[in-house]
Amino acid sequence: MALITVENLKKRFNLEAGFFAAAGRYVYAVNGVSFSIAEHETYGLVGESGCGKTTTARMLVRFYESDAGSIRYRDGIDAAKLRGAALKRYRERVKYVFQDPARSLDPRMSVYEVLTSGYRWSSSWPGHSTARREAAAILEETGLSGEDLERRPAEFSGGQRQRISIARGLLMKPELLICDEVVSALDVSIQGQILNLLLDIKERRGLSFLFIAHDLKAASWFCDRIGVMYRGELVEEAAAEDLYLKARHPYTKLLFRAVSGGAAPVPEGGLQGGPEGGLRGEVKTALAEIPGCAFAERCPLAEERCRREKPEFRAAGPAAHRVRCFRAGE
Ligand SMILES: Nc1ncnc2c1ncn2[C@@H]1O[C@H](COP(=O)(O)OP(=O)(O)OP(=O)(O)O)[C@@H](O)[C@H]1O
Ligand code: SF4
Ligand SMILES: [Mg+2]
Repeated sequence: MALITVENLKKRFNLEAGFFAAAGRYVYAVNGVSFSIAEHETYGLVGESGCGKTTTARMLVRFYESDAGSIRYRDGIDAAKLRGAALKRYRERVKYVFQDPARSLDPRMSVYEVLTSGYRWSSSWPGHSTARREAAAILEETGLSGEDLERRPAEFSGGQRQRISIARGLLMKPELLICDEVVSALDVSIQGQILNLLLDIKERRGLSFLFIAHDLKAASWFCDRIGVMYRGELVEEAAAEDLYLKARHPYTKLLFRAVSGGAAPVPEGGLQGGPEGGLRGEVKTALAEIPGCAFAERCPLAEERCRREKPEFRAAGPAAHRVRCFRAGE
């Protein structure tokens, strides 16, 4: 059964280019993204920097309001429309572990305060003495010690701080944990430890995960199913193993080649030189609505039609493998 179903989610930001800030110009960060995550499933959202992963996740937890689309949670409530107490309850079920633990953990707070800052204002706040016991137990579960509650985040290493972030995400017993690049800022040796911790948590708690990463190989190892994003659109979705063995979309293939040491994922100067304003080296985000395939400017198989017409998702191979490319089957 689907825990959360996102349909046609969109978000654009006003483009502020300093002195030349122009009203009516936008960054099209997320352009009609749809996917669902089943109970106990780990769904990966993968793509290069700037493709809209964090924006999508932030809309899911309502840090950002979406411009369009719906977020159906379990019983069919559109979470994009929740207000007041219902929104508060929703936010207790869906938790977000931030991309950057160094910035998301307030250095002036003790670990106990960090862990309980959201909990304290929730409907399930049990009072300090129970919360302290629960927080100590969560710290132990994430590989730290209950005695660490009185220490400050700055006293911990990067990997330990990420454990604190994960503990904070778990404290209110969410059903969906969104992990946004939780290992990318860490040393490779520590990355494996954190991924193993998440696997343990997944098995122990039967949680669902939204796992956001730009490393397609790591995501293939960790996730049940993966959606590949490009310029704010989902371009391919499949079971992780199926995607790994038989990627269909030219962009997904490029991503896999890049991690195995083949083609560079980003051509020198970035993707936005030329028609979209010459933002060389900038993030790979659309600055206008793209009429055709989002990947057309970079695709070795592109033909005239690709620039005019948007490919819809279609089934490719085994059930649940879908791809948005006119030429994926060739
Ligand atoms: N609050 C904001 N205001 C303006 N633009 C934003 C904002 N948040 C994101 N963007 C822009 O939206 C686009 C998508 O950003 P997003 O952070 O979602 O990408 P991402 O896939 O998470 O990238 P990364 O892998 O670097 O974290 C980028 O061009 C980014 O600059
Ligand atoms: S639709 Fe066309 S441009 Fe887009 S990925 Fe397929 S072949 Fe390439
Ligand atoms: Mg991000």
